[in-house]
Amino acid sequence: MLLKPLLITAVAAIAAAASSSNIPFKTSLLQSAAAACQNTYCNAANNAIGTMVGDMTLVNTIALPNDEQRANIYISPTQGIILAYQGTNISSVDSITQDLVFFHDFPKPELGLPLQAQVFFGFQYQWYKSWSQVDKALSAVMQANPGKKVVVTGHSMGAAIAQLAALAINKKYGGNIISSVISLEPPRTGNHFYSVAFDNIFKGKYTGVVNGADWVPSVPPRFMDYQHPSGLIWINPANSTNYQWFADSENRNGPNSAIPEYIDVNALLSGNLGGLLFWGDHQGVLFGVDLFTVLGNCPAQYTPITD
Ligand SMILES: *[C@@H]1O[C@H](CO)[C@@H](O)[C@H](O)[C@H]1NC(C)=O
Ligand SMILES: *[C@@H]1O[C@H](CO)[C@@H](O)[C@H](O)[C@H]1NC(C)=O
Repeated sequence: MLLKPLLITAVAAIAAAASSSNIPFKTSLLQSAAAACQNTYCNAANNAIGTMVGDMTLVNTIALPNDEQRANIYISPTQGIILAYQGTNISSVDSITQDLVFFHDFPKPELGLPLQAQVFFGFQYQWYKSWSQVDKALSAVMQANPGKKVVVTGHSMGAAIAQLAALAINKKYGGNIISSVISLEPPRTGNHFYSVAFDNIFKGKYTGVVNGADWVPSVPPRFMDYQHPSGLIWINPANSTNYQWFADSENRNGPNSAIPEYIDVNALLSGNLGGLLFWGDHQGVLFGVDLFTVLGNCPAQYTPITD
């Protein structure tokens, strides 16, 4: 009983001490990314071509039968082309298990990374499964919409896959095609050299987003040589509109300063061992969008912010 209130108090105290705002991304972009991701968790009927999510029109969806991560491609008059990846289905134990294969792997040549860079095995595996189909679909959409730039986004494991997809798109189509990479609740995706190489390619175009005390961005741990790229927005307290910006990587005043909540204390106390992992803040309100994954609105609904 004691643990959780203590953690919440600690997080709230940090929020009060830190400054807010000065985020170099428009909230409307972050909101579109969150809504684009929410919709990837919806069923096929809500991912029919032509589905509208805010001002985004779904123009393609890639959902391979043997793959957990749906990839959606939208066109928006305000954001350009948006490629959004679904994350782990946290109602599915199978899907969660795949997240645990976190030994280092050599990056595929398609990522254009230097030799010392290493990536999370399971994420690269998931990204690569659908990459040729996603690339084919994306390239058709780019050809049909000349001059439009691409936003790459994803939630949870999808946030890691989005980073890898962005690298592959950059390698294949050149540095100017991507306008931003928005990783919502990302786990760490690669080692120190990965993070440095990613920063060099996407300087000023990347942000991770962490909601409150979500623990997913704290894994795999730093001591296993995993490091986030630079640029992070911390929504703190969770689900609020208090956004803190950290331009660097792994800032010690960011989410690393809070103790992530791994365990659902109520589940523990009631003996519900199946519900032991605390998913609370991993699905939450991000920029006015209920990113509640499989429990969320389908199609995604929100009140658009204009800025
Ligand atoms: C998530 O997993 C649950 C339980 O296996 C399943 O009922 C549901 O359809 C899955 N949802 C998605 C979006 O894959
Ligand atoms: C944030 O919202 C999610 C989803 O409703 C909820 O599970 C979580 O407890 C909320 N966190 C806080 C600190 O209110």
